[in-house]
Amino acid sequence: MARCFVTRQLPGTALDRLAEVHEVDVWPERLPPDPDELRRRTAGARGLLSMVTDRIDGELFDGAPELEAVANCAVGYDNIDVEAAREHGVAVGNTPGVLTGATADLTFALLLSAARRLPQSAASVLEGDWVTWEPGAHLGYDVHGATLGIVGRGRIGEAVARRATGFDMEVLVHSRSCGVSLDELLERSDFVSLHCPLTPETRHLIDAGALARMKPTAILVNTARGPIVDPVALGRALHEGTIAGAALDVTDPEPLPADDPLLSAPNLLVVPHIGSASHAAREKMAELSVDNLLAALAGEPMPHAVT
Ligand code: GLV
Repeated sequence: MARCFVTRQLPGTALDRLAEVHEVDVWPERLPPDPDELRRRTAGARGLLSMVTDRIDGELFDGAPELEAVANCAVGYDNIDVEAAREHGVAVGNTPGVLTGATADLTFALLLSAARRLPQSAASVLEGDWVTWEPGAHLGYDVHGATLGIVGRGRIGEAVARRATGFDMEVLVHSRSCGVSLDELLERSDFVSLHCPLTPETRHLIDAGALARMKPTAILVNTARGPIVDPVALGRALHEGTIAGAALDVTDPEPLPADDPLLSAPNLLVVPHIGSASHAAREKMAELSVDNLLAALAGEPMPHAVT
């Protein structure tokens, strides 16, 4: 029986399977453990089931000599120093595949909401500002027939592209290895949707120069990672009307403080990192994380190992 620290309560019954064979310590709070608490609880653990909100680095590994496995309950793993894990002999796993559809759905929800100004028009109803059917009010942009630029050609980018064909959209793709150049994608797209991982190369990929290349009628959608977009440049572009809007599931930092200047930008829709937040996706993510931990603690390869 191994001690496992689980950094957040999880939906579904996956943790019951873990608790059948191991001693499971689940962080009970709504907010994640702070770095000191994370280190304290992980010291002495052989398994760690972590979230994207947990920074898993060399210092954590140094203080947890018995740690054998980290199962990140996410497909992204930029919160983990994978090289340090390798050096410490700690296996790392993630949850690919099971959240692809949910995240692609949310991408489209954001795209449609921003294009057709759903937050603004819904707010006008609640504010009693619904005068009558007004020919010139709440005008947005057509999604059908528009050009969608997808940055990143992973599972989620592909799933977004499939949805786009149902809307008769023209799809442009830019990735490291194929597709059009980023400049061409930015210049031609009516919607730019980000689906690349956060790496040193993609940090601030969408900076002031990139935003300046976009059409003034274009909308930026980010369901990947916040730091891929320079938030100061984005705020300026929205205030100056360089682009028509932005819809973000991810920000830098997260959470964005209520007084963050970006939140005062016009035509901005922000939701709190809910890309995978469907009942089914989150339960499957928990199951895959537990599968990873059970395998590693039994001395077997993780079924979803990060390589
Ligand atoms: C969420 O952001 C994930 O990477 O799964």
